[in-house]
Amino acid sequence: MGCMKLCAWTVVVVLCALGKISGLDNGLALTPPMGWLAWERFRCNTDCKNDPDNCISDRLFRTMTDILVNEGYAAVGYEYINVDDCWPERERDSRGKLVPDRERFPFGMKSLADYVHSKGLKFGIYEDYGNFTCAGYPGVVGHLAGDAATFESWGVDYVKLDGCYALPADMDHGYPEFGRQLNLTGRQMVYSCSWPVYQIYAGMQPNFSSIIEHCNLWRNFDDIQDSWASVESIIDYYGNHQDVIVPNAGPGHWNDPDMLIIGNFGLSYEQSKTQFAIWAILAAPLLMSVDLRTIRPEYKAILQNRKIIEVDQDPLGIQGRRIYKHRGIEIWSRPVVPIHGQYYSYAVAFVNRRTDGTPSDVAVTLRELGLNNPAGYRVEDLYEDVDYGVLSPQTKIKVKVNPSGVVILRADAQPSYAYNAIPTRTPYALNDVFRLTKKK
Ligand code: GLA
Repeated sequence: MGCMKLCAWTVVVVLCALGKISGLDNGLALTPPMGWLAWERFRCNTDCKNDPDNCISDRLFRTMTDILVNEGYAAVGYEYINVDDCWPERERDSRGKLVPDRERFPFGMKSLADYVHSKGLKFGIYEDYGNFTCAGYPGVVGHLAGDAATFESWGVDYVKLDGCYALPADMDHGYPEFGRQLNLTGRQMVYSCSWPVYQIYAGMQPNFSSIIEHCNLWRNFDDIQDSWASVESIIDYYGNHQDVIVPNAGPGHWNDPDMLIIGNFGLSYEQSKTQFAIWAILAAPLLMSVDLRTIRPEYKAILQNRKIIEVDQDPLGIQGRRIYKHRGIEIWSRPVVPIHGQYYSYAVAFVNRRTDGTPSDVAVTLRELGLNNPAGYRVEDLYEDVDYGVLSPQTKIKVKVNPSGVVILRADAQPSYAYNAIPTRTPYALNDVFRLTKKK
């Protein structure tokens, strides 16, 4: 496997050299960022007097840092502790500097970042390109260089720059300019942008080549909420717009379908498995927004599923696609390593969007999924720990998918001595996929 990964990286490097993949040149986020982000679960709760355990405060972030390290999340790759909105004072100081809320962050942000770093993790913060953040705190406009320098001085590793109270047309220069200011500080900071989503809402066509060049990740669509309907709307958006969205992803530059809400109130166990599987197929950042103090073990196990995390973090960084959708059954597929000759390996997710109560059977040959390697594929189920062994392209696989649930398989291409090292064909065998779609 080590050698295979190396080969895959060689492909990435070669493609970069050919100019096929380009992105923000800060060397960061070569795989989608993983961590914990406060917003979806903890929102703008500033009431530390009445709700000290759940308010946006130094204490909340230190607690989550400890849990990330002590309860196995860091060991499987979760790395960033990210503050979202509502952290600063309502006013800058007399010199125009951002100040963390004095009561809720009494030791300041440098102290919090130092604590996160002392545990081997990285620290993220939130700001907004406009006059105000979405919750009405000071935005960076007019203070780009100063705020970038402030973040550098605090030891920030990741900046999410939102786009409320800004003109979408200004973002084409504003986002690159703030990114330039971050780079000028000399500190490497992951740059998360909301640039395209605000432009799409304003009816504009985002300039994705510029967005890829200036951001490590970006939002395309609505904020996630604590419901299956919200997760479904995001899955549909990414499937329905995949021809525009998918080509923009790659090492260093990722589409961000928003946070993982697994372990909260709105998703069933099946739906939680589906969110995690589809986020991995989408090469999405894995930013958990959940109370890690109270999460139930079965949800924790989903978030710590190493095999699915490995799909998400695949070094090729090719985002997957929806290759089949009919009568509530969807098949999503993502090319991954190892590659043998012209044949990629794949992660394949079967999703049941039906609500008729009984599990649905889906039967399909590997060939119909576009998996044509004559040497076959080693196939395993990533949730159930079932190893199907090496299967030929003609083999029909049959899976049972629970309502609003998922089955996710990994099919690793097997080697054959006849193959060359570099793939020569598209990772998606579209003709085969088309045949599948027509037949059903
Ligand atoms: C916007 C963003 C969210 C969150 C809030 C904070 O809605 O999209 O992710 O950061 O602002 O106010």
